[in-house]
Amino acid sequence: MPVCDLDKRAPLGKKVLGLDVVVWWDRNENAWKVFEDRCPHRLAPLSEGRIDPSGRLQCVYHGWCFGGSGDCKLIPQAPLDGPPVHSFPKACVGVYPSTVQNGIVWFWPNTDPQYKDILTKKNPPYIPELDDPSYDFQMFNRDIAYGYEILIENLMDPSHVPYAHHGIMRIAPEPR
Ligand code: FES
Repeated sequence: MPVCDLDKRAPLGKKVLGLDVVVWWDRNENAWKVFEDRCPHRLAPLSEGRIDPSGRLQCVYHGWCFGGSGDCKLIPQAPLDGPPVHSFPKACVGVYPSTVQNGIVWFWPNTDPQYKDILTKKNPPYIPELDDPSYDFQMFNRDIAYGYEILIENLMDPSHVPYAHHGIMRIAPEPR
């Protein structure tokens, strides 16, 4: 997801590679976070929640709050003098390792803790032109209901542009 399409004030849900994820800005760690879009309590989508006043991701259903490591920081209904149920492992959210490169939030599509540090060893593909101010580009995100292979076939077929995108894209005049 391009960072320019994200809003630091609100979580955003996406389906990527068949995974339901939520991306949100963690102001406490100064980083974009990618979580499973599923609250560990009753499975409500965390993307429907909000960022709470302490900068945590808060579930919209019963208000559980999560920190950037997926750890549950607060269960509002739990008595303050009771056991620390918020710290139970089952109260944690799955966290996808993520990073920002070329103005894009990337994530490793596996929440298994064995991959926690994977991005220190494997980087997303680097596109130097995107960091070169002499290049001009535009980024946006669009969900299209078909697979990667179909999209690539379409992008490799420029002859369709004057017709399929007639009147929409600036193109050279049609040959007579
Ligand atoms: S479903 Fe999220 S707090 Fe209950």
